[in-house]
Amino acid sequence: MRRIPTAVLLAAAGALLAAGSALADSNGGFAPRDPASPGAGDIRDVYWLLVAIGSFVFAVVAIPLTIFLFRFRSRGRGREVEGPQIRGNSSLEIGWTLGAVGLVTIVIAFVFYKLPGIVDPGQAAGDGFTVKVEGRQFYWRYVYPNGVVAFDTVRLPLDREVTFAVSAPDGDVIHSFWVPNLAGKRDAIPGTETEFRVVPTKTGTFDVICAEFCGLQHATMRGSVEVLPAAAFDRWLSDQEQRQTAASAELGGSMWTSVCAKCHGPSVAGKIGPKLEGNPLLADREALAQIVRNGRRKMPAVGQGWTDEEVDSLVEFTKALAGGGGGGGQG
Ligand code: CUA
Repeated sequence: MRRIPTAVLLAAAGALLAAGSALADSNGGFAPRDPASPGAGDIRDVYWLLVAIGSFVFAVVAIPLTIFLFRFRSRGRGREVEGPQIRGNSSLEIGWTLGAVGLVTIVIAFVFYKLPGIVDPGQAAGDGFTVKVEGRQFYWRYVYPNGVVAFDTVRLPLDREVTFAVSAPDGDVIHSFWVPNLAGKRDAIPGTETEFRVVPTKTGTFDVICAEFCGLQHATMRGSVEVLPAAAFDRWLSDQEQRQTAASAELGGSMWTSVCAKCHGPSVAGKIGPKLEGNPLLADREALAQIVRNGRRKMPAVGQGWTDEEVDSLVEFTKALAGGGGGGGQG
């Protein structure tokens, strides 16, 4: 019996089909996100090479193993009877040693070939600038060079170099800033600043993911990068610079969603933090500032390091939720 059993062939074909369709299913499957920067394109290329080599090695090991399981069965031979003795096969052994060395060499060479493009995004039109990224329990806070702040959602200009300076405040924990469409992950470590550069080459909205388990609400630490045409970005940034000199309910609303609602929002009330709507504290600027800046009991100091304008902006939004004299609207 030298024939490969039909069941094995069918199982192998089924496995290949399943793997193939999972791979082809962009984003939902094993496929990486569509790159929106040259560096992300290089990361994707490395990923596909590793998938190809890994699949090849898996097939070379798994397919013969499955065949041998059937082909070299005892076929009723007694347990005490020895099977045919195989003393080794020099060419096979040299072959798989050199083969493995060759595959690893290909991986190393390709990664080093792609690495400069991953680390250095190259020249881009227009002046670059730095955005500070703070990972906090459980939100992202961004600070632009002109002092404009943003929460969870950061806007960037198209085709301009942006340096992310990633950190976390002292007393917070380690997070990991990850925008799969733009670049690899960078840890946000308390007391340390890690810089990396990207040049977004596509407009659109791209996910920001915290890739380090950082506490109960780790899963809610999602934000986005919105890449705008450069002129629209410049307009937005100078507009925000104007607005953020005073209390901005727009900024306060995004702070409420990014910072407060993840623990105090309607869907999580009673599990993480108490429901806040209707609480008169929301209209009391001094009391609220004290709590968010210093924390209280189980509540961390989510507003440590916020400017007065940021606290004012939050109150500008939350006073409408306080009940009593608050008034209507944004809640
Ligand atoms: Cu921050 Cu997970």
